[in-house]
Amino acid sequence: MSRRRSLQPLLLLLLLACLGCQQHLPPDPQRPWSPAERAILASLTPLPRLPPSPGNRVAEDPVAVNLGQVLFFDPGLSANGQVACATCHRPEKWFTDGLPLAHGVGQAGRNAPTLLGSQWLPYLFHDGRKDSLWAQALGPLEADVEHGYDRLALAHRIAKHYRQPYEQLFGPLPPLDDLTRFPPHARPVPFASTHPHHQAWQAMAEADRLAVNAIFANAGKALEAYERKLLPQEAPFDRFAQKLLAGDPTAATAIPLAAQRGLRDFIGRAQCVNCHNGPLFTDKGFHNLALPPLPGQTSLDVGRALGAQSVKADDFRCGSLYSDTQRCEELRFLNPKFEDFMGAFKTPSLRNVAQTAPYMHTGQFATLDDVLAFYRTLPGNARVGHRELVLTLLDPEVSQADLLAFLQTLTGPLPEAQWLHPPQPIPPPDDPRGP
Ligand code: HEC
Ligand code: HEC
Repeated sequence: MSRRRSLQPLLLLLLLACLGCQQHLPPDPQRPWSPAERAILASLTPLPRLPPSPGNRVAEDPVAVNLGQVLFFDPGLSANGQVACATCHRPEKWFTDGLPLAHGVGQAGRNAPTLLGSQWLPYLFHDGRKDSLWAQALGPLEADVEHGYDRLALAHRIAKHYRQPYEQLFGPLPPLDDLTRFPPHARPVPFASTHPHHQAWQAMAEADRLAVNAIFANAGKALEAYERKLLPQEAPFDRFAQKLLAGDPTAATAIPLAAQRGLRDFIGRAQCVNCHNGPLFTDKGFHNLALPPLPGQTSLDVGRALGAQSVKADDFRCGSLYSDTQRCEELRFLNPKFEDFMGAFKTPSLRNVAQTAPYMHTGQFATLDDVLAFYRTLPGNARVGHRELVLTLLDPEVSQADLLAFLQTLTGPLPEAQWLHPPQPIPPPDDPRGP
């Protein structure tokens, strides 16, 4: 209360000072926000409306949302009966896990990103090797170190526990109880032709394999329908920028002064907005920052160079047999041979970034201060490819504390409580196979 009262004379003064002008009130007494700066601010807020997902015809269906939500929290969808999507994308951690490298049935090689904001990304994963949320969801399910599951086990589990909503959405399941046609466990295992699950998959009739692929894809579509509820929420930054642009004098107190200075640097001399732009603070592109590796990591990761090839060859890509659209502009214009893809990784959204430590694709930085210290010094050379040329040393005049204060204003609340836990009890795991 007293703080507010002490601000009143100041606000009055500012108001009087502005009576003669049609301009907004400068939040920083030093300098008003220029038209160019205001134009950039206007491009960063408000949060956009959820885009459609043309490849997924059940994307808006409440039955699919509910099924996807149960599947998201179901540890039965794993080799050891213990790993769900929510193991690594923990709701209370803004759908991350707090670890440098994610841990499922085994040790993953990359950091688990938040799911908030992923709905706008044309390419998913740090290397962009998937082009929709539904196709993305199929990756971790069969990854040995994540769920370690397989599409046949998934089909059987759906038939056993989720038949009603599944058939309501997608029509009748094939006769999965015929175990000679549909073995308990099978999947294509890349580069492992002697793997028993691979051999079981090869032994199946082509038509049955396609039917199982469709079930697998449909599970992904239900998962996406749920993930589309996990949206970033309005943050103090949005309130500040919108008030400022509307000429509302209370903008000056919407975020701390340090954060206002940090914002000015972020969109100005620090040049962060070159890559972290638009309302999600990402250009959705891929860049090689020449990051230092996580200590102990020796393998070279070519990032987007491989990701771009993989997405073009993915069985579940846009326009595939299982996609509900054939209009695939993004993929059509993707050139996997683009030179700068070597060692490049996706620009992450910075919304809620203060909640999602550690940072970068292998979690090599524990804190935001470490990230900023990196941009200040740009140590070392790229281990593959070369450092992106637009990335230049942070102007030494820029205050790291100010930038940090600004990044903290990008934190909004978690999505609505109903999306943060399983919607109903989860059936017990069937036949865990052990790790
Ligand atoms: C073992 C931990 C783990 C599990 C389990 C897991 N994920 Fe992830 N998730 C990750 C990691 C690590 C990445 C980044 C991997 C990469 O880029 O190669 C990721 C990436 C993603 C992305 C991409 C986000 C972006 O910004 O590109 C989405 C979406 C996602 N996961 C959803 C899911 C869903 C849905 C499930 C369940 C079917 C799931 N995850 C299960 C660890 C996990
Ligand atoms: C050349 C494009 C580019 C510029 C300029 C840039 N960034 Fe980034 N930023 C990226 C990319 C790409 C990543 C992810 C790199 C990775 O994981 O390998 C990233 C990661 C981050 C992260 C970690 C986010 C996370 O979830 O892991 C933060 C924080 C960040 N940048 C802040 C900034 C700030 C502040 C500036 C300005 C000083 C800036 N960036 C300038 C491209 C850029």
